[in-house]
Amino acid sequence: MNRFYKLIPILFMVFTACGRGSNKKQSDQDILKKGPELFSKYGCNICHTFDGSVLYGPPLNEIYMTEITVNRQGEEQTIVAGREYLKRAVVDPRFEKVLEYQNKEMPVTFISDEEVDILVDYIIAMNK
Ligand code: HEC
Repeated sequence: MNRFYKLIPILFMVFTACGRGSNKKQSDQDILKKGPELFSKYGCNICHTFDGSVLYGPPLNEIYMTEITVNRQGEEQTIVAGREYLKRAVVDPRFEKVLEYQNKEMPVTFISDEEVDILVDYIIAMNK
């Protein structure tokens, strides 16, 4: 039993490595259903919108693949907000902060890798 649980992360990596083509775990419909659920379950909607308005944190509807200037451990950097950036922004908000919002805090969310992926896919879907 224990051994099996140790295998889960490895299996997960194997599945992710298979790419997001036909092996995609979540269909677009799933993402559009589960995404908003997780977005409110974890309180993201308290601070973020998808309509360009600012509740507290930056709106998330026009960020995917755009250039964003961040403060990364004290250094200003301009990055392109791809999938990895978005994922890190959710699981490790202290790693780098959007410069314009650097005096605001985003809480760390304890969330499974699978749920983060759904949230990130959802954010990407809302950027189209
Ligand atoms: C208490 C308010 C708050 C909550 C709750 C919150 N955030 Fe944030 N978020 C922020 C702030 C403030 C920033 C900008 C500062 C920073 O980068 O840490 C931010 C930054 C981000 C960014 C980077 C945006 C950009 O323009 O580059 C993403 C993506 C993000 N949050 C997603 C989420 C998701 C998903 C959740 C829910 C799991 C969440 N946030 C919960 C306040 C919040």
